[in-house]
Amino acid sequence: MTTNSTSAPVTTIERLGNHVGQTVTLQGWVYDKSSKGKLHFIKLRDGTGICQCVAFKGDVSEELFEKLGHLGQESSLVLTGTIKAEPRAPGGYEMSVKEGRVVQQVEGYPITPKEHGPDFLLSNRHLWLRSKKQWALMRIRDAVITAIRRFYDERGFVCIDSPIFTPAACEGTSTLFEVQYFEDKAYLTQSGQLYAEASAMAFGKVYTFGPTFRAEKSKTRRHLTEFWMLEPEVAFADLDDIMQLAEDMLCYVVKQVLERRKPELLALERDLTKLECIQAPFPRLSYDEAAKILAQHPESTFKYGDDFGAPDETILSKMFDRPVMVHRYPKEVKAFYMKRDPADPSKALCVDVLGPEGVGEIIGGSQREEDLDALQGRIREHGLPEEAFAWYLDLRRYGSVPHAGFGLGLERTVGWIAGTEHVREASPYPRMMYRIYP
Ligand code: 4AD
Ligand code: MG
Repeated sequence: MTTNSTSAPVTTIERLGNHVGQTVTLQGWVYDKSSKGKLHFIKLRDGTGICQCVAFKGDVSEELFEKLGHLGQESSLVLTGTIKAEPRAPGGYEMSVKEGRVVQQVEGYPITPKEHGPDFLLSNRHLWLRSKKQWALMRIRDAVITAIRRFYDERGFVCIDSPIFTPAACEGTSTLFEVQYFEDKAYLTQSGQLYAEASAMAFGKVYTFGPTFRAEKSKTRRHLTEFWMLEPEVAFADLDDIMQLAEDMLCYVVKQVLERRKPELLALERDLTKLECIQAPFPRLSYDEAAKILAQHPESTFKYGDDFGAPDETILSKMFDRPVMVHRYPKEVKAFYMKRDPADPSKALCVDVLGPEGVGEIIGGSQREEDLDALQGRIREHGLPEEAFAWYLDLRRYGSVPHAGFGLGLERTVGWIAGTEHVREASPYPRMMYRIYP
């Protein structure tokens, strides 16, 4: 703990429970302010929470009382005072101010408590992050990331990061971002999977977790052009193994968020019962079973053989109170690296996990083709440049084994857990087709 000039220890709002009856210092910004006669009520936010700080005219210097009366929203200040428990106050504690210092007095902060349109807020994302709901979302995102890393660490996975500049496509050529790479062309990675496969052959159980890019020309609530993906990859594993892994991981992550971020979930008015029921086992449906359900659904325009569109996923995911795992899609709608189902070679050994409450796909994964000739044939069929995949084929030449993995979209997962309609609010600085500012 550091101390400031008043010698009262500096603490944070989330730690106030340890300081009841003590005099401490808080450093932060004015979230809201009101005055009544000889009292100023300052809602101070410090990044860890919001605390009501009450300044009584008789308790502070005349100069400070005067200054506090003129503080606009987001003025920065340091306040020292005694802490008491106050169940009616936001956060449960209140400060009686004794001393303080205004760091910067501000007027005209653009984001006020009134309603603003999404475009205005996105253009002010650098400031919007200070608002309570955005603050709660980012703290939930942080807890999801930490839970994911803990989960894999506890299970002996090694984090091996994949490169961002890549020489070739992983998920089809239609969503590649091309960049000039000295005299050559390179692409921003769509997925770290191919490198995760190489890493799995070196370390057994690995994951890669980082930014991925898709030139998605779609303006849906589910698509970003830059998003984070978590991709575990496991040697000597099959489709069932990674479906189990995905189920265990999602239960673990939701439980951790419930334990560590309840105030944030409540700030978002999230219905906690919807998260409390995220328990194993998750329902599992084959593509054929899912197709039958859609064929009988009055609102579905689904045709057998097609990939599921967003409305189809919404219908399926609304049927269950927990994520549903749809496996074994027709090979034609899936990526070149997926292994065929030996029981029905028209199907790929793959799984999509659809989040509940109409969220749609949050995870896509598969068992990989481990046979050299079959994989080489697939690369040709898909019209992919063979030279760029020479290294990847080496994995099928030297100690090839059955292996499997999946990719989880971080923003879609955070959006689901936090209950936000649009993935863009689950990213601190979202990148979309029509937005690269701020
Ligand atoms: O299903 P996808 O395309 O799978 C892969 O990329 C595999 N190579 C992963 C693997 O097996 N290692 O993407 C995985 C997940 C999706 O389920 C979705 O959650 C997310 O990444 N995702 C997106 N999220 C936001 N915006 C987009 N444009 C996304 N595209 C995919
Ligand atoms: Mg997918």
